[in-house]
Amino acid sequence: MPQDTVTITDNRTGQNYTLPVENGTIRAMDLRKIKTGPNDFGLMTYDPAFMNTASCRSAITFIDGDKGILRYRGYPIEVLAEHCTFLEVAYLLLFGELPTEPQLKDWISEITHHTMIHESTKKFMEGFRYNAHPMAMFVSTVAALSSVYPESRNVHDPAIRLHQIKRLIGKVPSIAAMSYRHSVGFPYVYPDNDLTYAENFMNMLWKMVEPKYAANPVIARALDILFILHADHEQNCSANAMRAVGSSQADPYLSTAAAAAALSGPLHGGANEEVLRMLDEIGSKDNVPAYIKGIKEGKGKLMGFGHRIYKNYDPRAKIIKWTADRVFEITGRNAKLEIALELERIALQDDYFVQRKLYPNVDFYSGIIYQAMGFRPEMFTVLFAIPRTVGWLAQWQEMITDPEQKIARPRQVWIGHETREFVPMEKRTPAPVAAR
Ligand code: ACO
Repeated sequence: MPQDTVTITDNRTGQNYTLPVENGTIRAMDLRKIKTGPNDFGLMTYDPAFMNTASCRSAITFIDGDKGILRYRGYPIEVLAEHCTFLEVAYLLLFGELPTEPQLKDWISEITHHTMIHESTKKFMEGFRYNAHPMAMFVSTVAALSSVYPESRNVHDPAIRLHQIKRLIGKVPSIAAMSYRHSVGFPYVYPDNDLTYAENFMNMLWKMVEPKYAANPVIARALDILFILHADHEQNCSANAMRAVGSSQADPYLSTAAAAAALSGPLHGGANEEVLRMLDEIGSKDNVPAYIKGIKEGKGKLMGFGHRIYKNYDPRAKIIKWTADRVFEITGRNAKLEIALELERIALQDDYFVQRKLYPNVDFYSGIIYQAMGFRPEMFTVLFAIPRTVGWLAQWQEMITDPEQKIARPRQVWIGHETREFVPMEKRTPAPVAAR
């Protein structure tokens, strides 16, 4: 018997099946051979929320959740955060290798020259209601880029793909900044090509009447580090949305908008906004024990805690804490930090959190830094979406070029009626509410 196999006995029929094991997985399609008879469809797996299903083979981001390890293309996140700029990391994620100096120079220049958005897109943004959520504006405007670049639907043309990738990475900070300026009623600011990616984003957010925006270098570097930490995270909810929508060969703008929509939910990228709301609700350090007691009694979740994959400290949360100290030296300490530190201290000692291996995730501290930098909570998820666009595009590109990938289409376990006899209107009785 070959060693890299698994043998399954079907107790319904007494038959044995030997299935190959590759990279710790069996092919779900191999299970279809396991049948009770010729009319049986064959065995499937039932895995709501993909708790134990690999949907792709990937070489982009590696996570060992038990050990708290995160690597992009083999490089530990801590090393990249210390030594690289965000655009350098973006190059690594997309092309698999760190750029040489001339490669990086060209890459920066190309991204920088795609930061302008079409005036018609600017007008489109002007149409949003004055109090629209910045994330709603972001998602809709990214989707609207599809109308500006119709050639983007040629997803199998590598040159066209690359062009859209550069456009998207260049334009997402501009759209994010415009969604902010719109929500506060300030005129939009055009990009400044003399500035770095993070500095230019700050320029588009905060420039007022000064002729040239001068970014604080500590804040700019902190933002760049936060971008590095958020750039990719393997097959999370939004990456999965990007791959699923992209698998229908929708263009990258529409797929990215779908991924951003997935990110917006409070259980995913929307959690950083919720953390701030939670800290506001707690109000002071003294109220932390009572709040934790409420969580343990089932009154909601501790936002910014827990992760599907990390059952150890999220390595990004550690770097964020370090970055927070640098930022607070400039901005002054954020009062919410005290509450957050106390929450973390108590939760990490509490049996409820210890047993469930619930640790702070990336969103626990990022919101506090963003607020200290002057962002309103509504902007937090948009700040996440800017760098994550790179991850989505790397995942999309890998999916498109993978010969094994097809349109994503899960199966279902049918729990509904067999064929029923049609009931004419006059003979129908109202269904109980629970059945609707
Ligand atoms: N507070 C309190 N209890 C929690 C929390 C939390 N934040 N997270 C999980 N639990 C509990 C669950 O109630 C469950 O308890 P039980 O076994 O008694 O039923 C147990 O821990 C396991 O949790 P699941 O919900 O099964 O874990 P899952 O992997 O499905 O969820 C998730 C992961 C969505 C991140 C969850 O931990 C959560 O909702 N956290 C708060 C929201 C958050 O911070 N999201 C950001 C994630 S990072 C990111 O997306 C960028």
